[in-house]
Formats: sequence, structure tokens, C-alpha cells
Amino acid sequence: MVRAPAKVNLHLGVGALRPDGFHELVTVFHAVDLYDVVTATPAPELSVAVRGEAEGVPLDSRNLAWRAAALVADRAGVVPNVRLEIAKAIPVAGGMAGGSADAAATLVGCATLWDVPRSVLPELAAQLGSDVAFPLLGGTALGTGRGEILTSVPGDATLHWVFAVADHGISTPAAYGELDRLGGGATPAVEPLLAALRAGDPKLIAARLYNDLERAALSLAPALRHTLDTGRDLGALAGIVSGSGPTCAFLCPDALAASRIAGALASAGVCRATRVASGPAPGAAIV
Ligand code: C5P
Repeated sequence: MVRAPAKVNLHLGVGALRPDGFHELVTVFHAVDLYDVVTATPAPELSVAVRGEAEGVPLDSRNLAWRAAALVADRAGVVPNVRLEIAKAIPVAGGMAGGSADAAATLVGCATLWDVPRSVLPELAAQLGSDVAFPLLGGTALGTGRGEILTSVPGDATLHWVFAVADHGISTPAAYGELDRLGGGATPAVEPLLAALRAGDPKLIAARLYNDLERAALSLAPALRHTLDTGRDLGALAGIVSGSGPTCAFLCPDALAASRIAGALASAGVCRATRVASGPAPGAAIV
């Protein structure tokens, strides 16, 4: 079994649309201890089964985990005869890179089965999607290019989060498309956030959280504004949309406050479910 973490972007600056259809990004990924677990077992043919938060997850080659297994098999020169069982805790289409975590866990699981060195996995991850390399690495990392070029960011202060999960998803291309329609991002510099992370002070970090895609998510799902306001009113240090949304991420002063705010958000009826998590969490690992 391999587990891989969810992420929230502490900073997500969306730049120009490139000729290849991706946007130039400057982002800070932060892994949290909310994990999907993938079990890869030799089988007569490639198949995917999903348990847990499984609604809307495809069970064929549209699933990124399926494509990850095929890619590792191709590298190993074997036929991808493997059954992938995915236990999902990360919200689907929630802006927390759940599909990418499944792909990262599958890369590690299949590389173990077929004797592919872990050192080649970041390159395979980048072929699968912009967010797949990060859950391999975990921790907190600066992402550039389309998000796949990673540099670990020092700072080991534990951050306590509440995630408010919506009753619908937002597709990543739809969020980027909406941002383009609205005229693009207004990105501030990332350095003040990096300095706050080095200082390890949650209040300073809270003041520097930034996400260009929040504008797009709020345009596609205006009710999220009320969810964000509610979390802030309940005592969160900050509330932002996670990645392309619609999950809202609230940075909390400490673990106790996080569990109190999660309970109050659930009672307020402003989301489908809440999750308490902390970061930075380690990258994909065999458990
Ligand atoms: O890389 P991934 O397959 O996750 O990206 C999904 C979609 O999100 C892309 O097809 C593109 O529309 C959008 N995207 C983007 N710029 C990025 C990352 C993703 O426009 N840097």
C-alpha cells in the first residue's frame, strides 16, 4: 500500500497562457495529512477500483492512476497487469489534487512491483499532469513552469487547517478558463510568503496566503464567498479557496481551534463536509 497526501496552494500566481495550453505558474504547494491510499497487486489485466469518496471517479484510462500504471509499465518494458485499489479520503475535483495523489501513489507502487528506480518518477509524474510531481515530494515546495518544477521550501512549523468540502466539484480547466475570461490574475510577489514560512508564524503566513484561481472559483460558485466569510468569522486566521476549488481551506491558530471551527462550519451548513488536517505532510510513501 502506498499513501500520498492532498495539497493546498499557499500561493498560486497564474501568469501567461503558453502556446501548449498551460499557464505559467508561480505556486507554493503544501502537503497536508489527508491521504489517499493505493494498493497495487499483480493481476491478469489493468483495472481500477475505488472506495471512499468515489463519486465521479472514472475506472478506466481517464483515471490518472490507470495512466500512471501504464507509464511505469512502459518504462519497465512490461505489460501493465495490475489491479489498483484506491481508498479515497481526498475530495474529488476539490482543488486538493486528489487524482494527482492517486497517480503519485500508483507510480511508487508500480515502480516497486516492476523494479523502476524512484529517481525516474518525477519525470513520469510531469508527463501525467502539472500537480503529480508534488505529492511524490511532499512537504512545502515552490512550483514553477506549469507547476511541475519543484524546489523544497524550508520551514517546519506545523500548520493547522480545516477544509470545507463543497457538494459539487470544479474542473481544473474550467477554473483556468474562467480566470482567462475575467482577464487573468493579479499576482503579488511570492517572497513575503516564503519569509513568513521561514519565520514559522501562522499569523504572518495567514496574511500572505494568495490564490489567483479564487477569483475564478468564486465566479463559478458564488456561494463559496459565504463559506469563506463564515470560517473567518469563526476565528480562522485566513480562508482561501484551495487550488481551483471549490474546497475552502482555513488556516487556524492551533489544533484545538481547528476542531472547533470544523464543528461550527459543519453546523452552519455552509459545506457538505469538513476535514481537519495539518501540514507539512510527507510525500508518497509505502505504508
Ligand atoms: O496538468 P493538468 O492535467 O492537471 O492540467 C489540467 C488542465 O488545467 C490543463 O489542461 C489546463 O487547462 C489547466 N492548467 C493550466 N495551467 C497549468 C496547469 C493546468 O492552464 N499550469
